[in-house]
Amino acid sequence: MIAVALNMAAVSITSPDGNLVLHVELTPQGAPYYTLDYKNKPVVTASALGLKSEQLDLTNGFRIASTDTMSVDRTWEPVWGEYSTIRDNFNEMAVNLIDKDHQREFTIRFRLFNDGLGFRYELPVQKGPNHLTLKDEVTEFNFNGDHKLYCIPGDYDTDEYLWSETTFSKLPEALSNYARHSEAQRVNGTTIQTPMLLKTDDGLYINVHEAALDGYPAMLLDVDTENYSMKSHLVPDRLGVSAYLQMPFNTPWRTLIVSDDARDILASQLVLNLNEPCKIEDTSWIKPMKFVGVWWEMFTGYQKTWAYSDDGLAKPGITDYTKLTPNGRHPANTENVKKYIDFAAKHGIDGVLVEGWNEGWEDWGGYRKNRQFRFDKPYPDFDLPALRDYAKEKGVKLIMHHETAANAADYELQLDSAFRFMKNNNYDAVKTGYVGAIIPRSEHHTSQWMVDHARHVIEKAADYQIMIDSHEAPRPTGLCRTYPNWLAQESARGGEFESMGGNPPSHTCMLPFTRLKGGPMDYTPGLFETKMSYYNEGKDSQAGTTLARQLALYLTMPSPIQMACDLPENYDRFPDAFQFIKDVPVDWADSKYLEAEPNQYITVARLDKNSDDWYVGAITDENARTATIDFSFLPKDGTYTATIYEDAPDAHWKDNPQAYRIRTIKVKPGTKLKQPLAPGGGAAIRIVKNTK
Ligand code: NOJ
Ligand code: CA
Repeated sequence: MIAVALNMAAVSITSPDGNLVLHVELTPQGAPYYTLDYKNKPVVTASALGLKSEQLDLTNGFRIASTDTMSVDRTWEPVWGEYSTIRDNFNEMAVNLIDKDHQREFTIRFRLFNDGLGFRYELPVQKGPNHLTLKDEVTEFNFNGDHKLYCIPGDYDTDEYLWSETTFSKLPEALSNYARHSEAQRVNGTTIQTPMLLKTDDGLYINVHEAALDGYPAMLLDVDTENYSMKSHLVPDRLGVSAYLQMPFNTPWRTLIVSDDARDILASQLVLNLNEPCKIEDTSWIKPMKFVGVWWEMFTGYQKTWAYSDDGLAKPGITDYTKLTPNGRHPANTENVKKYIDFAAKHGIDGVLVEGWNEGWEDWGGYRKNRQFRFDKPYPDFDLPALRDYAKEKGVKLIMHHETAANAADYELQLDSAFRFMKNNNYDAVKTGYVGAIIPRSEHHTSQWMVDHARHVIEKAADYQIMIDSHEAPRPTGLCRTYPNWLAQESARGGEFESMGGNPPSHTCMLPFTRLKGGPMDYTPGLFETKMSYYNEGKDSQAGTTLARQLALYLTMPSPIQMACDLPENYDRFPDAFQFIKDVPVDWADSKYLEAEPNQYITVARLDKNSDDWYVGAITDENARTATIDFSFLPKDGTYTATIYEDAPDAHWKDNPQAYRIRTIKVKPGTKLKQPLAPGGGAAIRIVKNTK
């Protein structure tokens, strides 16, 4: 790799395989910009670089003082994930910029991989001001055509949206169809969120996101629909300030994953590669797991509640929960939780999540906002010592729930006692949540302050050897490499929306191309009873899925923590299908994406990290499809038995979702299986090597 200094105002590098070429240049005014080509065609056309703060303008008046280049080819082993070994192979160029008076200087570091580009701004200690109030990041991603866009609306607070497949020119119309979430701050106009995906007319796929978001706000993208261009839009605080920075400071990486093969976007590890190596020395306590939970029975209806009582604790002065009248509709009670523990123990499921176990849910209205939830105070009907001992005896882990009602400030104050309480009661993992407007001062969910909060929580959790599954936190950017105790996040519209209007089948054909590039999602698959009226007479919707597809999601939505979201009674109705959930691993040695097209279909094969068993998952959108499963990923030296969980011929997500079949066939490396998938359907396969 050679950095070609054409003159001191223009430099370039290529990717290790030579397919990508990055070019960095300065305008006559000394403003840096870059271009990116793939296989001799422009991907990103001239796009601005730089930052603007109240105190310092880092956008123009610069010259290139020097460049530093290096080539890296190394591998590393994640604690858990889709691969046991990840290759980190890139050519790097750091462009050091200085102004003519030698007052302002900064570096833009570019890493060009075979699968894309990452770059970030590095601000050293300045001669001038060293505390910056950031107003704007001018980074652009400019394109040369009316490409297809797969995106969700720009929002400072939530990402729980369905995906639009649109184009630059049709974006305003697509975004106008979204309802505004209550309390959330939708950005008007044509702002969208990352991760997002583009597809060009000649079949190039481009994922735009960021890596290692730390000490900085999340990035949205302002789209100029006429000029096919996108510009960074940092989530501000309530006063409109993007970030408060102290020098020296490195921004997160801006990332572009690029390929003419959609499967490469899914396989890309670029975002993880741009994150710092694991900071936790002893990771032996970090354990991938499956869990069931006291959750769906509240979520699906209004018959069951997180709250213990209907007496409004909002009435000031009531603090003693034993004086409240139990409402009799509170599933987080000792007897019911024991049933879940029994179920988990019987089926070899590692954990049981219990939501609604602690004081505070009566006050969801927020009358005592400065301390609504207590994380060390179980409700009177939740006998924690008894449950702790019972779970231990049965070899099952209880999973903690911390709904903060978005009182992040109070959560920080309770964190030590909450984590100590967990450890004393044998909990190793917690699901956190931030529903509502962030306290203090109605911060945004993805502003710098909340990014800092999330980092504080994950580090503190690591100190206590606690694993986290966060909901409503800033979108993941690969920090789970650095803190592998961050098992998963929600940060997108999850399976729970099946009880709130539904997710069309295409939704899960989109998430792996976008949201999952930042890290695993707690999507909560495993829904066997898909008719919402089963749970709640008031609801008549039907989940956008067949039963067989729910099994396939364990493969297509990989996560080291996977829920089996349905009620135990529904698994008892379909024990043969539930066998797949019992068998499927959550940690992988290898992954092969066999077929993929965003918003339409995904077929993936994965090798269990702890055995020689392979698994395949295939899903389609609302159209029936025949997946072609080429078993050449299997090692050459054997024959194999494949157990296929598939849609029955007459299955349909809408009116016949529970029609599935289980069949067993012999396969070998040469086998090519034509696997039918129903509309909204899927197939899940377990492949075991024959012993003789
Ligand atoms: C929203 C979360 O996504 C959901 O899973 C949880 O049950 C509720 N908040 C209550 O905390
Ligand atoms: Ca949520």
